[in-house]
Amino acid sequence: MTIYDILTLPNKILREKSEPIKNIDEEIKAILNNMAETMYAAPGIGLAAVQVGIKKRLVVMDCSREEDKKELIKLINPEIISKSNEKSIYEEGCLSIPDFSEEVERFSTCIVEYIDINGKKQILECDDLMATCVQHEIDHLNGKLFIDHISRLKREKIIRKFIKLSKQKLSK
Ligand code: NI
Repeated sequence: MTIYDILTLPNKILREKSEPIKNIDEEIKAILNNMAETMYAAPGIGLAAVQVGIKKRLVVMDCSREEDKKELIKLINPEIISKSNEKSIYEEGCLSIPDFSEEVERFSTCIVEYIDINGKKQILECDDLMATCVQHEIDHLNGKLFIDHISRLKREKIIRKFIKLSKQKLSK
C-alpha cells in the first residue's frame, strides 16, 4: 500500500471539480485502499481523492471514536439526496489546511447515496460528526473547502498565511 502526499492550500487542484467514476476496477479499489492508509496515517477522519491529486469522486471516512474499532467507509460518487432543516455547528479542520480549525455550520443530518466497491448503490444516513464529515468531503469533490463556510475576513487571512508558507518553502 501507498501513503499519498496530501496537497495543501493554496494548491489549485483543491479547487477543481472531481469526475464521477464509471468503472470500479482494480485501480479504483487500490486508490481507495491507499486513501484509507493515508487518512489513518495523517491521522484524519475523512479524505477525498482530490486531496491527493486524484480528481475522482472518491471519499474515505472513519468517524469512529474508539481507537480499536475501525468503521471505514469507502464512498464512490457520493451525493447528498436529503438534508435536515436543522443545522449544527462543529469545529472543523482539514488535512489540506493543517493546523487550522474553525466552527462551521452545516446540516445536522443528511442522507447520502453512493456506490460501494462492489458496484452496489447504498444509502448512508448520517448524523452528528458523520453528517459534518460527509458534507465536508463531498464539498471537496466540488472544489469547495471548509474555509468557504467561514467569514471572508478569516478566510482571506488563512489563505494569505498558506501562500506565504508555500513561498517560503519554494525559496528554500
Ligand atoms: Ni478536508
